[in-house]
Amino acid sequence: MTVPGGRISGTRLARLLGEWRRRGARQGSADLAAAIRLLVLDGRLPAGTRLPAERELAEALPVSRTMITAALDQLRAEGLVASRRGAGTWISLPSGTMGITPDTPLVGHSMIDFARAAPPALPGVLTAFDNVRRRLPEQLADHGYYEHGHPDLRARIAARYEMRGVPTTPDQIVVTSGAQHALAMTLRLLTGPGDRVLVEQPSYPNALDAIKAVSAIPVPVAMTDTGWDLPGMAAALRQAAPRMAYVVVDFHNPTAHRLDAEGRVELADIARRARTPLVVDETIVELDLDGDPLDGPPAMAALADDVVITLGSASKSHWGGLRIGWIRASAEVVHRLISTRTALDLGSAVVDQLVLADLLADPDPALRERRAQLAAHRDVLMAGLREHCPTWRFTRPAGGLSVWCELDAPVSTRIAVVAQNHGLRLAPGARFGAHGGFERWLRLPYVQPPDVLRDAVRRLGVVAGSVNGTGLVSEEDIAIPVA
Ligand SMILES: Cc1ncc(COP(=O)(O)O)c(C=O)c1O
Repeated sequence: MTVPGGRISGTRLARLLGEWRRRGARQGSADLAAAIRLLVLDGRLPAGTRLPAERELAEALPVSRTMITAALDQLRAEGLVASRRGAGTWISLPSGTMGITPDTPLVGHSMIDFARAAPPALPGVLTAFDNVRRRLPEQLADHGYYEHGHPDLRARIAARYEMRGVPTTPDQIVVTSGAQHALAMTLRLLTGPGDRVLVEQPSYPNALDAIKAVSAIPVPVAMTDTGWDLPGMAAALRQAAPRMAYVVVDFHNPTAHRLDAEGRVELADIARRARTPLVVDETIVELDLDGDPLDGPPAMAALADDVVITLGSASKSHWGGLRIGWIRASAEVVHRLISTRTALDLGSAVVDQLVLADLLADPDPALRERRAQLAAHRDVLMAGLREHCPTWRFTRPAGGLSVWCELDAPVSTRIAVVAQNHGLRLAPGARFGAHGGFERWLRLPYVQPPDVLRDAVRRLGVVAGSVNGTGLVSEEDIAIPVA
């Protein structure tokens, strides 16, 4: 049973839906049903969300009331929405009938997850678990609660900063359950409802969600074709007076841009003058595919330790399933973070922390392996794109996990909707905008093995052709089995 929860307005649903309609399509109701289904599968319309009245939605989209009724009838028949007289209509997830949800394990499934830019674990992670298992008895004799993080891991994380030229002591580190948790903790410390937070436009979708979840207001500053609009950011800091700025200056998600050393000095200066804390997400910093992360431009913390709070993570370098991230800040900020943490959780899992500590004892071999693997996958994806989507434009990413691809028409959402029927899960460009948009863009990750990447891009070419009405789509191509 699904319990009706919060209500979404017609305007907000229209914004989430983006450009859902195929141009010239007759079957508008099928398109609308497919677009709502995508939002549900993506977790963006959670079960229980009450939908606006049909008339309100028809006005917001704007389409005929008959089309809305037909789309909802279709979703009702699938069990994806439920209605009751007096209670309205809401999203419903009947157990066992949903097929793929965002966290359904996709191993052995014919649905390819091209929405998540998260690589599988390196083999060394298993070895690290074995090493930790042997040392576990001494840990088990202890209480296991470490609000700041296990001392062994805090020391290793601090040592990695030292290697990168950022003087750091273990008491400047708080271990968290991933960088997303680290951001949520930082937002709780620095912002309150109605406060503004400067973000890059486009930005990492889950960060945008975290900002909205604390009722803060994202203030987007558009990126340029080559990176950051630093004068634009300075003006936004002056005019909007945000409580903090959230930036990803290393292999930015999703554009893969990297801010150069000169830009970093300028950004540090801008933040300092505006007295705005700069929350720098370094989740992807180790994934320098063309160079060595230890030779990269200086870390923001090395340039402006007084205004920078750094977020880090083992998710992309080692494994997302560890769910270990961290915050690097001044000892005073660490103290304040911990005093707000205990209302939320009492520390991260000790075994996972020890596994990462083991991996960080000699981090370079594993990180080299990760970079080599991703660099090879990047080349496979780019070759596939050139073959199957030859009119799309992209720049070869120097690091990170994905290609930010410019389409020939504003059809990103349409492509993501249709791709589901071809066994491909995509994150439409609109996910990366503070208020939607980016219909000309798709983020395509290269984290899967080469044969899966090739298959995914082939499917993508078929989908793009069918959406644009330009591609050569054979019956055989369309009949990709979806379990
Ligand atoms: C920029 C950025 N920040 C944070 C995260 C989430 O990291 P974690 O798995 O450590 O919560 C990701 C994951 O894709 C990311 O790309």
